[in-house]
Amino acid sequence: MVLLLDAPVDAIALSRRLTDSAAAIRAVCQTPARVGLILGSGLGAVADALPDVRRLPFAHIPHFAPMGVEGHGGVMAIAAPGGLGVIALQGRYHYYEGHDMAAVTYPVRVLRALGVTTLILTNAAGGVNPAFGPGDLMLMVDHLNLMGVHPLRGPNDATLGPRFPDMTGAYDPVLRQMAREAAQATGVSLKEGVYAALSGPSYETPAEVRMLRTLGADAVGMSTVPEALVARHAGMRVLGLSCICNAAAGLGDAPLSHEDVLAAGERAKPRFQALLLTILQRLAAEADAAMDSKGLKISP
Ligand code: HPA
Repeated sequence: MVLLLDAPVDAIALSRRLTDSAAAIRAVCQTPARVGLILGSGLGAVADALPDVRRLPFAHIPHFAPMGVEGHGGVMAIAAPGGLGVIALQGRYHYYEGHDMAAVTYPVRVLRALGVTTLILTNAAGGVNPAFGPGDLMLMVDHLNLMGVHPLRGPNDATLGPRFPDMTGAYDPVLRQMAREAAQATGVSLKEGVYAALSGPSYETPAEVRMLRTLGADAVGMSTVPEALVARHAGMRVLGLSCICNAAAGLGDAPLSHEDVLAAGERAKPRFQALLLTILQRLAAEADAAMDSKGLKISP
């Protein structure tokens, strides 16, 4: 069959798959989901602080790809703090594991199909900015897609989003301001910078890190950008938060190791958790105010 005839068939298959996946998740959600949260390496436990969490393993969701060998299974933690429907993904699909971009970004499509309009993306990253140290938290102000691939390549399904999505303000300015205020209120220091995504799985060479700095990067990692691209395509607001787990290659004294990255994430966990919970509270208040302005608020 020729490629042009394949495209609409694929599009139908995707919308059917999304409907299937969303139905399985809706059966577990008590409150309609409005906020999605994708938790990066070592940061999954942040969702454990959410109240009344219901858990749904990715393996129980139709059409979710099997996780990579070193993945920990992947679980959706579903909660409704302050009445706000939140779905937190503990685990994500990485391109370096061999997943294609459609599988990497499928959970974002599913979140959108469930009604999620705000997506918080988190990651563990290396610090390219020499002023950043292990344990620092960074608000993503923009990104560099250096993965060599793009999740939106191929025929565009106009029911999902536009052919040429605008990426100005991809990391939503209102959400960024909310994050700054939440950090201040929580007493958590929050750096700001540009995140560069490379495909991995090797860490960068020192020469590549110098190149990234020249290009304007403050942090480097192997995720997040595909999800942000698909979320923007789908019209979602995106907030990006990085946990700087190590000085990028050539900037510190020690060789890089995944164990050290996870340990730094673990140490940052209380601050990351406090910041995220405060942001979720603010998003709940924002949603409440929006309902109120429409005269729909139920609470007195
Ligand atoms: N490089 C790429 N990805 C990473 C790093 C790094 O230094 N640290 C954590 N994830």
